[in-house]
Amino acid sequence: MDHFTLKNGTMHAEDVPLSRIADEVGTPVYVYSRATLERHARVFMDALSGLERKHFAFAIKANPNLSVLRVLAKCGFGADVVSGGEIARALASGIAPADVVFSGVGKTREELQRALDDGIGQFNIELEDEGIAISELAVAMGKRAVAVLRVNPDVDAKTHAKISTGKKENKFGVPIDQAGAIYARLAGLPGLDMRGVALHIGSQVFDLDPLEAGYARIGAFVGELRAAGFAIDRVDLGGGLGVPYQRGQVPPEPAEYGQMVARVTKGWDVTLMFEPGRVIVGNAGVLLTKVIWVKPGVINPYVIVDAAMNDLARPALYDAWHDFEAVRPTGARMIANIAGPVCESTDTFAMARDIDAVKPGDLAVFRTAGAYGATMASTYNSRALVPEVMVDGDRYAVVADRVQPEALIAAERLPEWLLD
Ligand code: LLP
Repeated sequence: MDHFTLKNGTMHAEDVPLSRIADEVGTPVYVYSRATLERHARVFMDALSGLERKHFAFAIKANPNLSVLRVLAKCGFGADVVSGGEIARALASGIAPADVVFSGVGKTREELQRALDDGIGQFNIELEDEGIAISELAVAMGKRAVAVLRVNPDVDAKTHAKISTGKKENKFGVPIDQAGAIYARLAGLPGLDMRGVALHIGSQVFDLDPLEAGYARIGAFVGELRAAGFAIDRVDLGGGLGVPYQRGQVPPEPAEYGQMVARVTKGWDVTLMFEPGRVIVGNAGVLLTKVIWVKPGVINPYVIVDAAMNDLARPALYDAWHDFEAVRPTGARMIANIAGPVCESTDTFAMARDIDAVKPGDLAVFRTAGAYGATMASTYNSRALVPEVMVDGDRYAVVADRVQPEALIAAERLPEWLLD
């Protein structure tokens, strides 16, 4: 459920007509609904409320906008981060360092040092050498870093290959058959306080069975670690829950997920940690765009909008579907291709799609754009960096400016030897 609905024939974000935002801020622009963010946060947390000990860390990569993070921090979320930049964002949004989990397969020594300086709560170690590096850095500072080992359980999340992370050929985690030996060596290092394990098998997961299979493998592994004498007090179950991108799609309900988690983790006696991203922010955002032209095509017309693959990369990268709806639908329909202005054929949002009939100047939205939308934007074709707006009831604020090409040009330098 979200708060992007038609009122008097015009799509609103909560109580603000999207046409007002388009007039005042321009297009393309991402629009987030605070009430939707809060609702999703609550539904997810409620689904897991029966668990005795738990920790929620929003996967910042899904939407690192400071205002979004602030809303989620107020709901009780910590942060799952994968870079020094994401640590900076988490802390700037008011999330306590102790509530930050540092994931990521390529943390540099500089980033690890920074995380230790900031006192972040947990390191999710991806390979033995990383654990050794954290140990050395922590010893040099006279600290002990709380850490877990990310294990690759070798399960197929049955999602898009490019967002699948839990199969043995993926770059993430240590192979489950070597994890026991690696854990034992890491647990013996000074400066490291090894407390448990982590996994994350993929994103946009629609089938709970692979998640359950992964969790069960991790549960068995925790049993082996305990039998070997290690004190395990936390397991990080990652993120991954899918969301509906298309009308009629039915992803697992958070409540079903909660029941599955409760069943499979029964008796583990650990703090369970969660790193949801998409399920919290996906449907809390739309990309608002304006139709520039409707170009007759050989088979179907091309609706050329002012948003492009640099603003919303998911269709170009993963053939992802985002529902397209007119802000003032007339009831008429058309079959059309939807494309942006970027000079690549992959800058196409949809082919032969049955959509609200639109004409040049009309406003429309790509739905479910709150996750992996603005954060993956670029300035390709020297387009402006897309701005972001947050709506709260009948008010809204620009929470990230449109960064104009002139500002990007100002960050470039012509060397003296090119000035002649
Ligand atoms: N934890 C870890 C370690 C992750 O790698 C990810 C996502 C998450 C949590 C959050 O997963 P979520 O709950 O959002 O599924 N750009 C792609 C998605 C990449 C996901 C990467 N990892 C897309 O637009 O579909």
